[in-house]
Amino acid sequence: MAHVNQEALALLLGRRSHHRLGPPAPDDQQLRQIFAAALRVPDFGHLRPYRFLVARGSGLDRLGAAMQRAAIAAGKGEEVIARAARMPLRAPLVIVAVASPKADAVVPQFDQQLCAGATVLTMQLAARALGYSGIWRSGWLMYDPGFQRELGLAAEESLVGLLYLGTPDESDQAAPPTVDPSPLLTWL
Ligand SMILES: Cc1cc2nc3c(=O)[nH]c(=O)nc-3n(C[C@H](O)[C@H](O)[C@H](O)COP(=O)(O)O)c2cc1C
Repeated sequence: MAHVNQEALALLLGRRSHHRLGPPAPDDQQLRQIFAAALRVPDFGHLRPYRFLVARGSGLDRLGAAMQRAAIAAGKGEEVIARAARMPLRAPLVIVAVASPKADAVVPQFDQQLCAGATVLTMQLAARALGYSGIWRSGWLMYDPGFQRELGLAAEESLVGLLYLGTPDESDQAAPPTVDPSPLLTWL
């Protein structure tokens, strides 16, 4: 009979995000585990169609400065420009996940982008398994060509998410409700 891994199930069923994240963040060894988990996502053709930009400490300030320059270049208002510099400071660690599709005769670009997206969820789950939490964010910057240039993305690359990681506020620990999936299911 199949072995039921209750802890793994609880991790999946209890997955939730946290907006307010403080220190500590995963340390270097834990980060290696988080990336090792990311590199185990399903990957058609084993193309590794993704890469990651990682920011903590002064890197968060550099990421915020890049966001601010992009906001200025995009002609955003004063409030958005001011907020942009502070955005990465909402967590002690930010991982920017980049879809980096490879030219391939068999594997469609969309498959490769999905593969890159899967790394974000996997890293969030791995971080939770290690006792941390996080939130997957996007926002207008993700689709902004100026911000993509700031981050050094190549023409074929795109951003699939900014994963903010850290330790949630103690008061913000409620388990997510269980939702009935049946309205979303069609049996063929
Ligand atoms: C591609 C993607 C982009 C997202 N962008 C944002 C975002 O910019 N801001 C935000 O508050 N939530 C964003 N979310 C949703 C959060 O990650 C999170 O799922 C949501 O706050 C619900 O919380 P839960 O994960 O605990 O159910 C995004 C989710 C995905 C998959």
